[in-house]
Amino acid sequence: MSNITVNGKTYSTGQQDPAMPLLWFLRDILHMTGTKFGCGMGLCGACTVHLNGDAVRACLLPLSAAAGGKITTIEGLSAAGDHPLQQAWAEHKVPQCGYCQAGQIMNAAALLSRNASPTDAEIDAAMAGNICRCGTYPRIKAAITSAAKKSTAGVQMFDPAEQGAV
Ligand code: FES
Ligand code: FES
Repeated sequence: MSNITVNGKTYSTGQQDPAMPLLWFLRDILHMTGTKFGCGMGLCGACTVHLNGDAVRACLLPLSAAAGGKITTIEGLSAAGDHPLQQAWAEHKVPQCGYCQAGQIMNAAALLSRNASPTDAEIDAAMAGNICRCGTYPRIKAAITSAAKKSTAGVQMFDPAEQGAV
């Protein structure tokens, strides 16, 4: 039997096909639908979550590769939905249709957790693989820049396991 920890809570993956993409497990088994299915081929970034703090494409990651790891989804990014990036997203009115935005925020959060003050070029490079068909790229970039400036001590990642939420 294998276990996977999602947003601080541990689940058994033992009954599931180990080749099942993590995205299927999140959406269809755990009913965490904040993470979106876009292309299913690793090309759009809509399904981005964190595995041990790194941004990964949940549509490509088999359960067998995620087993034993700590997954964070958009639902677990912050206890109250007020991660600095989520606040900046609201301030800059980033979303249009919104479909890509959970993946955008998760990718940006991974960037700021390893680089609290990214340059414009670093933001461009880190976010290049996250596609927005509504073209919200300028607002995404402005929100990331704003969050980075406000989080001078670095963006702290919420860990539900340390907050007694398990
Ligand atoms: S759905 Fe995973 S990258 Fe597009
Ligand atoms: S806001 Fe519509 S796809 Fe990005």
